[in-house]
Amino acid sequence: MSDINIKITDRDGVTHDVVAPTDMAMNLMEVVRSYELAPEGTIGVCGGMAMCASCQCYVISETELPEMSDDEEAMLSEAFDVKDNSRLGCQIQMTPEMDGLEVELAPES
Ligand code: FES
Repeated sequence: MSDINIKITDRDGVTHDVVAPTDMAMNLMEVVRSYELAPEGTIGVCGGMAMCASCQCYVISETELPEMSDDEEAMLSEAFDVKDNSRLGCQIQMTPEMDGLEVELAPES
């Protein structure tokens, strides 16, 4: 099995059931972009380098996520609308362990 099911709530509050491949080295930000769940230019601004926080999302499910890198932590400490469950979507790789992940996109900042 190389696809996982995740739920992404967009900035208008609409929840989308999304199927994401785990064999294409995609991250969550790229999944959001490929499904066009956020307008072009409002997510993934830095190209996934943990340098813009445009891909910030709130993790709603209990899914165990990889530890934050120092870069991710540093970026989130400067970002707006950060909550305890904030993560940078570009730092979450689509792996089989992410099946069932539920996230909400943070507001555009
Ligand atoms: S795309 Fe810029 S921090 Fe994730």
